[in-house]
Amino acid sequence: MTILVTGGAGFIGSNFVLDWLAENDEPVVNVDKLTYAGNLENLATLKDDNRHLFVKADIGDYDVMLDLLKQHAIRAVVNFAAESHVDRSIHGPEDFIQTNIVASFRLLEAVRCYWNSLEAQEQQNFRFLHVSTDEVYGSLDKTDPPFLETHQYQPNSPYSASKAASDHLVRAYHHTYGLPVLTTNCSNNYGPYHFPEKLIPLCIQNALLGKDLPIYGDGQQIRDWLYVKDHCSAIRRVLAAGQLGEVYNVGGWNEKANLDVVNTLCSILDELNPRSDGKSYVEQITYVTDRPGHDRRYAIDASKLERELGWKPAETFETGIRKTVQWYLDHQSWVNNVLSGEYQTWLDKNYAGRSA
Ligand code: NAD
Ligand code: TYD
Repeated sequence: MTILVTGGAGFIGSNFVLDWLAENDEPVVNVDKLTYAGNLENLATLKDDNRHLFVKADIGDYDVMLDLLKQHAIRAVVNFAAESHVDRSIHGPEDFIQTNIVASFRLLEAVRCYWNSLEAQEQQNFRFLHVSTDEVYGSLDKTDPPFLETHQYQPNSPYSASKAASDHLVRAYHHTYGLPVLTTNCSNNYGPYHFPEKLIPLCIQNALLGKDLPIYGDGQQIRDWLYVKDHCSAIRRVLAAGQLGEVYNVGGWNEKANLDVVNTLCSILDELNPRSDGKSYVEQITYVTDRPGHDRRYAIDASKLERELGWKPAETFETGIRKTVQWYLDHQSWVNNVLSGEYQTWLDKNYAGRSA
């Protein structure tokens, strides 16, 4: 048996592939287009591992995807591939529409064709697991209860709108064609191999480089943080035991305001890697112009996943964030390789116009 993972050179996908092969011997075909966010260095430890086959391809390439599904007799697809950064979706939504909607649709078509060709028993055993986000539910007020799976879809950014569209397509393929799908909607992840355009790795790296730690608006926006390895274990659990057609929210009950997250990063860095002038990294915090349409609060109610499938996160925010800071301190060469020309162009585009 073999599974096919898409977007497995990105942040969560590469953690998933590494954890999957550490947990069991079932081979993985890993399909990734290698956009700016895809990095084969994340998978360097699998270089000589014949359980892992990397294929550089676009999930929107119907023929390639269908060939791979047939050739490797795939029994499950885990779909991580996406454009994932809200700020990039604001500057340029086109790629988000193309990958998150159009290419996801083409992937579903290839999977549907493949699934239709399977024997009845194989059809029953097949799974298409779509990895999505809590951002499709929109923004919560301070006192609202956390998102349940039944929460109305109210996406507010081009990113979340494009993810919402793919969630709807996945749902429709189950309802209309009987495709055996599962969907997970997870809160903000953090951990190893996180691309340093996102808040946590960006602030760790900027702190170490003596640069500003940019806080959008008042920094009181709330995100619900989950250590990436816990997201991976949740996906494994849903793949193994999830009910077909069901949606599972994934989260760790870790709501934090952005400013508190950055203050925590600063105090861990003050302890593990003190500034040479003896001052705190907090001195580098800078308030910058807010993100347009910035969602105020996300919070996930993950009780369905816990109640029905017995999943619980292993890390608290305190243990996970400490491991993450330590990982970045230990993997500065990984970060430096990521900080390429394209990344510098992005920093100019996103931060140059934001007055401090
Ligand atoms: P990422 O941007 O780090 O990685 C995405 C990967 O997909 C990259 O390796 C990229 O090269 C690849 N890719 C992009 N377009 C592709 C295409 N057309 N064909 C093949 N590969 C393509 O993203 P991530 O943070 O690892 O997120 C993975 C998934 O999890 C996404 O679907 C995202 O919406 C979802 N998610 C992310 C978070 C989070 O906090 N990062 C939270 C919940 C859900
Ligand atoms: P991000 O990591 O981009 O994830 P998302 O937008 O998907 O939640 O941002 C997390 C939060 O941090 C979000 O509220 C925006 C904020 N933020 C900043 O305040 N400064 C920054 O430089 C970045 C990248 C994000």
